[in-house]
Amino acid sequence: MDFRSQVFAPGAVCKFRADGLLLVLCGGLDEAGLEAPLKAAVADAVAQGDLSLVPGKSAYLRQVSGVAAPRLAVVVAANATPKAIKAAAAAGMGLLKHLGIQHLALQLAGTGALQAAQAEALASAAGDVVYLYRSTKPSAPAAPALNKLSLVLANKAEQAAADAGLARGAAILEGVNLARELANRPGNHCTPTMLAEQAKAMSQAQGLKVEVLGRKEIEALGMGSFLAVAQGSDEAPRFIVMRYQGAARNQAPLVLVGKGITFDSGGISLKPGEAMDEMKFDMGGAASVIGAMRALAQLKPKANVIGVVAACENMPSGRAVKPGDVVTSMSGQTIEILNTDAEGRLILCDALTYVERFKPAAVVDIATLTGACVVALGHVRSGMFSADDALAGQLMAAGEAALDSCWRMPLDDDYAEGLKSNFADVANVAGRPGGAITAAMFLKHFASSFRWGHLDVAGTAWKSGAAKGATGRPVGLLTHWVLAQAAA
Ligand code: BES
Ligand code: MN
Ligand code: ZN
Repeated sequence: MDFRSQVFAPGAVCKFRADGLLLVLCGGLDEAGLEAPLKAAVADAVAQGDLSLVPGKSAYLRQVSGVAAPRLAVVVAANATPKAIKAAAAAGMGLLKHLGIQHLALQLAGTGALQAAQAEALASAAGDVVYLYRSTKPSAPAAPALNKLSLVLANKAEQAAADAGLARGAAILEGVNLARELANRPGNHCTPTMLAEQAKAMSQAQGLKVEVLGRKEIEALGMGSFLAVAQGSDEAPRFIVMRYQGAARNQAPLVLVGKGITFDSGGISLKPGEAMDEMKFDMGGAASVIGAMRALAQLKPKANVIGVVAACENMPSGRAVKPGDVVTSMSGQTIEILNTDAEGRLILCDALTYVERFKPAAVVDIATLTGACVVALGHVRSGMFSADDALAGQLMAAGEAALDSCWRMPLDDDYAEGLKSNFADVANVAGRPGGAITAAMFLKHFASSFRWGHLDVAGTAWKSGAAKGATGRPVGLLTHWVLAQAAA
């Protein structure tokens, strides 16, 4: 996609020959600074009852007199915050979605000088319009038409901020859409092997280093906990390491670790059948790491970033790990597996031990880890855990800035009580109460040698129901977090 800003002389917006023009209005019509034919068209639409200047309202107008672009959509934003602007722009683009528009001009009116965060919000609003799932549904519409977006600016002084915002928005949009695509693919297509191939292809295309470990190498590393989950499946596990170098070689890296369960049946602790198909999304954390690495490769922050994915299936079989089995993790700690459906933490603990070798500045893991997190926070904010107040603050701020929010949850030592085992160093489950927290406490046992944060995205990585599909979250949060660390 080609996102750019353009400075327009007075009267030039109406002469601009884009396929469509989207007008996002903030505040009153008189303060919007619209060119006369546009202002007249909006005033006329209001007078005729086609539009009211109330937040959330919109109108689609064709062949407006004095406007060269043949299609015009007008939307009213609730206010000038990036969140309101994104919502309004997304609604406006929705009106234009099926009209075959290739080149869209976009004007944000009534907000004064355009801020970078506003430009970013406008760019990211195009995500739903340009994303199309086709890989197992060839009958879906062919490629989306929209491929060029021109952001209208009134003067040159706004351009640097606008272009910086557009670049961020576009890179995050592409990372989000890659994550959505990977997570949407069904388990029989998106196997661990296929996920690794996709990570490789992305890395090579974006100039990242990438390394993929297979079962033999994973065994040699002693990842007994990861392998215990993988052993019930006929699909081979994969351990993926992607590297972006944007700073001096000796600068400690930021590390992202993703849960890549390409299908979670629960294993011998089999899940009930209802909505089990949605467990193809259980690699959403991994998908977000791959998507964020793509966005970072484009934005080139001055930081070193390593993206790690542990990928396997969780299946029942004669070879599957059983409740009560005790395994030895890469850290040397033994784990009593009381419930094979608590598999995410079993693959992540070995990934966390693995990344110690990088002497990271900080590690953040991302996982669709617990149904309990969905109960706690619903589908709005991801669960965020960190014993480090500074890191927790950074992740919180990154979520707000990216419009991909999270909420901090506690990690008191008292929550680890239920993880005690008579037969191993630690059990993989505690009781039902506080399930998202006890899962995080389990991971904490394996994250003592670096600054660590954990994002439970079980409620935010995908949507159920009629709009079933991956969201690409938290690619935005992760990308913003790295960018902010690089700038600090
Ligand atoms: N992938 C699931 C978590 C999940 C469940 C995400 C539902 C989104 C919706 C995870 O592997 C799991 O099964 N967790 C168990 C843990 C329990 C056995 C302690 C859960 O949440 O029920
Ligand atoms: Mn599970
Ligand atoms: Zn799972």
